[in-house]
Amino acid sequence: MTKIYRMNKNNINIEDMIELSDIIKNNGTVVFPTETVYGLGANALSIEAVEKIFIAKGRPSDNPLIVHISNIDQLKEIVNEIPERAKLLMDKFWPGPLTLLFEKKEIVPDIITAGLLTVAIRMPNSRIALELIEKAKLPIAGPSANISGKPSPTKAEHVINDLNGKVDAIIDGGDCEIGVESTVIDVFNNPPMILRPGGVTLEEILTVLDSVVYDPALDYYNSIEKPKSPGQKYTHYSPKGEVKLFIGGNDKVVYEIKKEARLLINESKRVMILGTDENVSSYKEGIIFSLGSKKSPKTISSNLFDLLRKSDDLNAEFILVEGIEEKDMGVAVMNRLKKASGGKIFKCGE
Ligand code: TXA
Ligand code: MG
Repeated sequence: MTKIYRMNKNNINIEDMIELSDIIKNNGTVVFPTETVYGLGANALSIEAVEKIFIAKGRPSDNPLIVHISNIDQLKEIVNEIPERAKLLMDKFWPGPLTLLFEKKEIVPDIITAGLLTVAIRMPNSRIALELIEKAKLPIAGPSANISGKPSPTKAEHVINDLNGKVDAIIDGGDCEIGVESTVIDVFNNPPMILRPGGVTLEEILTVLDSVVYDPALDYYNSIEKPKSPGQKYTHYSPKGEVKLFIGGNDKVVYEIKKEARLLINESKRVMILGTDENVSSYKEGIIFSLGSKKSPKTISSNLFDLLRKSDDLNAEFILVEGIEEKDMGVAVMNRLKKASGGKIFKCGE
């Protein structure tokens, strides 16, 4: 049985919060909202609790989890040292959508880190999440609260679809505003390396650090390198239909999407088009949605997973998607779309 708690971040019900933190203390599972996506939480210091996360999600055991904290004392209890570069980033971006790797202390079980010596940690910028961690007085392990391989949940209904009956409690705290997961950064690498692009952009990180690079292996379909973040090697964010991603000059992209849609519709396929505000009126057939304006990659990131999930609800067999420019939040958006497409990326020319 899963108990669902509706909660308003500006008016948190204390009794509910005590019940929820007791579930965490007793090694149960609680889905909680964050500013990025919903997380599937459990006591990060208990093997028994963390095992429940892997089972509920169907997550491969070689994919390590992010640990969520609410204050710096908690950090000191679970990591060996806080490198200078990490301090700079934490001062600027915590609480917020940035996850840093630290050398783990013995107290962090190996099941969290999949046997790695580093543990990924972030302080989320969500009152509900912070309050839950604070009340439980425990660091909370929390991968995205989706069934492994599916798009991450950005609305409570997404979580309920995936995990109702598989977890002890779900906190419905409304929609997650950022909509893609946190940026994962390894500050031990020289220069610091982004292992997963997310809610904090490379451009923002460069306001604090002299240099930072992307893991070259993030260019999945052109690189032979192995991603340094285990989670990045899995197929991910995949709706049931086949995602085809179109990149290149605007007019060429629109032309190729229309052509492909025609072809598929002629074969009686159910086609969904995810365009941008600038172009949606050009598409005349298929199930058409806008991701948002090209000028606002942040809007696109907050709509993305919901629209990918919608394609399942609407039984789309093919999802034709306009790519966007790979800068600022556009990098995280395109990272998710490339993975969702499994490499079906069509370069349409300029
Ligand atoms: O925004 C987020 O980060 C969300 C919310 C709930 O906080 N959480 C999330 O967790 O996205 P998850 O488990 O879905 O993704 C964690 C990513 C995976 O790609 C994993 O491989 C990577 O972080 N990761 C975790 N620990 C790592 C480590 N020690 N070294 C390298 N990568 C690590
Ligand atoms: Mg995930």
